[in-house]
Amino acid sequence: MNDKIQSLIDKKAQALLGGGEKRIAAQHAKKKLTARERIDFLLDEGSFEEIGMLVEHRTTDFGMDKEKYPGDGVVTGYGTINGRLVYVFAQDFTVFGGSLSETHAEKICKVMDMALKVGAPMIGLNDSGGARIQEGVRSLGGYADIFYKNVQSSGVIPQISAIMGPCAGGAVYSPAMTDFTMMVENTSYMFVTGPNVVKTVTNETVTAEELGGASTHSTKSGVAHTTSANDVECLEDVKKLLSYLPQNNMELPALYPYELGEELRPNLDTIVPETSTKPYDMKDVINEIIDEDSFFEIHKDFAENIVVGFARLGGRSIGIVANNPMFLAGCLDVNSSTKAARFTRFCDAFNIPLLVLEDVPGFLPGTDQEWNGIIVHGAKLLYALSEATVPKVTVITRKAYGGAYDVMNSKHIGADMNFAWPTAEIAVMGAKGASEIIFKKEIAEANDQEAKLAEKEKEYAELFATPYEAAKRGFIDEVILPHNTRRKLIKAFAMLENKVVDTPKRKHGNIPL
Ligand code: COA
Repeated sequence: MNDKIQSLIDKKAQALLGGGEKRIAAQHAKKKLTARERIDFLLDEGSFEEIGMLVEHRTTDFGMDKEKYPGDGVVTGYGTINGRLVYVFAQDFTVFGGSLSETHAEKICKVMDMALKVGAPMIGLNDSGGARIQEGVRSLGGYADIFYKNVQSSGVIPQISAIMGPCAGGAVYSPAMTDFTMMVENTSYMFVTGPNVVKTVTNETVTAEELGGASTHSTKSGVAHTTSANDVECLEDVKKLLSYLPQNNMELPALYPYELGEELRPNLDTIVPETSTKPYDMKDVINEIIDEDSFFEIHKDFAENIVVGFARLGGRSIGIVANNPMFLAGCLDVNSSTKAARFTRFCDAFNIPLLVLEDVPGFLPGTDQEWNGIIVHGAKLLYALSEATVPKVTVITRKAYGGAYDVMNSKHIGADMNFAWPTAEIAVMGAKGASEIIFKKEIAEANDQEAKLAEKEKEYAELFATPYEAAKRGFIDEVILPHNTRRKLIKAFAMLENKVVDTPKRKHGNIPL
């Protein structure tokens, strides 16, 4: 064989080995796949085309000129997932711990630029010891280049980050600026400063897992949108998530063929308990309404008083925002408002219609909430839903009280179709609280104050704890039988398909942050 051809074959073979057999074995021993194995699993078979396989770092300090690996610790390129184009980078922990050098960053930036120009999702598989320590500020510059491109791509192409190993220091800010951060349990962690620095500065003793593992970020901080048991499940989730999304902000998500039938769901008639204070699981409502097994939940274990996620309804991709009375009675609080606002804005940016399911007794009271700024955080959700121009449909299943009624996609903030079940209670506040205030004097003067309160409560509930006052004013478009909900929604979203909203010219709004 021609020597030159042989030389190329040898170079490519060396690149495929990353940091060598020993380090690959160490990676496997940690129950982690290598960068190339991850890409193979993620993309359609044979679809991956690598870019920059022979790139090497340019550092000479600390004897680095003698230690070079083709590819420089990151595998980049493009391929397809279920036939749709995506761009991908996968950091290779076997090469300098996947640390980010100037050239490593340049490779990532190159595919990010292409993804933005072409209009296709960008997927990052993160597994890195952070900035390449031997390069100093050059590697920090590389991070900033990536951050800047993350921001330029935001709202134009979907950006997904899988965290499949360490992701510490400045490295965390690229995933944080992408649309979704998906972590692998026990093998990944994210923190701005690691346990050693924490110990020095605050004297806290904490493990890496406690500080920034998948369970911490999926329950306490909300940094992680999903978690998975292992690499394979995480990559499966990336594929599933993509199936709900369009390629970019100029396209609509895929519409699966669907023929409308009767669509009756009798179970919906009995989900809301007779007693108005009794909880029920809004996820049961969701699962009855949507196409079978199509719910992909985001932030499943964080701020569970609101449920958000993607689903299909009559073959159409939708985003769902739903109060869940199972937790904190479905109240809106700081975390649930932020969670739902962020999800709403993603859906709006990528033309995914929104379904809001409402059972909300109000905002969560208390000093904790007020001092943590529920006013500003609640405003985020109000802002996000008001701002969204995608088709917006609401179903009030039970409570819609106070300011939370306005916030949860009310007619007044631009919702297109507002349905209510006959069990809906749309009022300023619950009957008991309302009666105690407006009939205070009458109750105080009564011989049997308890009986008087009960009488007034009943009176108020009959008049206001219903959907009919709102329906009379057109704030509710139709009071529907619960078993018809699925059919009504499929038809409403089909009717709204070509919705266009003109918004005033401006640089950008100023969402309360
Ligand atoms: N720069 C250069 N090389 C790095 C690196 C970095 N930031 N992080 C890890 N490496 C190298 C290690 O030197 C080691 O090289 P070797 O295979 O030639 O021995 C290899 O990557 C694996 O690292 P190791 O420490 O053995 O792996 P580990 O699984 O025990 O620990 C980390 C992983 C990430 C916790 C640990 O490597 C670490 O703390 N790295 C530094 C993190 C940091 O402070 N980054 C800079 C700030 S952003």
